[in-house]
Amino acid sequence: MPRTALAAVHDGHGDRLAVREIRVADPGPGEVLVRIAASGVCGSDRHVLDGEWSLPTPTVMGHEGAGVVEAAGPGVTDVAPGDTVILSWYYPCRRCRACAAGKAWACTGTRANECLLPDGTTRLSDAGGVVYPYLAVGTMSEYAVVPESAAIRVPADVPMDVASLIGCSITTGVGAVVNNARVPAGAGAVVVGCGGVGLAVVMGLALAGAYPIVAVDTAEEKLAAARSFGATHTVRAGGDVAGEVAEITSGGADYAFEVIGRVGTIESLPSLLTTGGVGVLVGLPPQGVRAGIDVLELAESGKTLIGSNYGGAVPSLDFPRLARLYLAGRLPLDSLISHRVRLDEVNEAFDAMRAGTRTRSVIVFD
Ligand code: APR
Ligand code: ZN
Repeated sequence: MPRTALAAVHDGHGDRLAVREIRVADPGPGEVLVRIAASGVCGSDRHVLDGEWSLPTPTVMGHEGAGVVEAAGPGVTDVAPGDTVILSWYYPCRRCRACAAGKAWACTGTRANECLLPDGTTRLSDAGGVVYPYLAVGTMSEYAVVPESAAIRVPADVPMDVASLIGCSITTGVGAVVNNARVPAGAGAVVVGCGGVGLAVVMGLALAGAYPIVAVDTAEEKLAAARSFGATHTVRAGGDVAGEVAEITSGGADYAFEVIGRVGTIESLPSLLTTGGVGVLVGLPPQGVRAGIDVLELAESGKTLIGSNYGGAVPSLDFPRLARLYLAGRLPLDSLISHRVRLDEVNEAFDAMRAGTRTRSVIVFD
């Protein structure tokens, strides 16, 4: 039976979300209805609200969420009502070459980035017509209808707020370390930008046994948080960051992660590396942005720059793995959550993110 849900909707103008009712239709073939329990407030939603990326509107925002399957459409076999699931914001088509090669993060058949289900429609609407779920999940809503390939079952004893973060920031950050960069134990690493995603990179580096782990941020609170997650050294942005990193790492880091999406910090990434070092681009800039690098220096010193999207993850493999590491006490994911808020406090959560005053807000539904 179709139902209504309270959701945080971006109407396409301004950076304020409207918390209002939408209609949610039944799941179609291969789709599931998920009652959302928690949704993280992630930097990518902010890019959209601040006009840096364009989307079809109106859009239910949120792409970092977890909940419980309430109903399954015809033909669903992966999950069943009652299952605890984390939503993937890049559902794989399971048919393209990337999917066949086990690279779900590089799927070319998905319509997630168009905010559409595989059949090109959505299950959301309001009086004005179609409503789009951001990245085909739209987790800032009491209900979501997603393809079964976007609903990844995890053990029910993972707390929902922690589970929601595995849906984006944790997978993106830890995955950048273990899947994309494949950092070996003992390598020196630097993380520029310690928001939710950057702190997940720090956690991933600690898990991998990197040393030293240097955290860089403009905000002192973020540096303190980075230390609690395993950073061995911290550097306040603004001064001679490259000089300080060179001193701590005895000549430059083996790996440097940019986790903001700012042109200036992207351009300076090679200067933090030793010869043969690897720079990892995790932060996403506004659409169309270009960066300049010293090509001769990059080539002569044998440095590499790699892109990292969704931590190079296969959610059906990585979500349960990360959940198990959390349950085993190997990843302190609950400490990442600085604020638990109600859906109608979503705008304040984005303002706090813009001001850099919170590590991570999570919207918790009743
Ligand atoms: N130098 C160092 N740190 C900075 C600078 C700077 N010039 N400017 C901002 N920062 C820090 C902020 O203080 C904050 O701690 O970068 C961090 C950005 O974190 P958030 O805004 O919380 O964003 P987050 O959710 O972590 O996402 C970061 O990763 O996946 C992408 O789309 C996402 O581009 C976004 C990025
Ligand atoms: Zn995200």
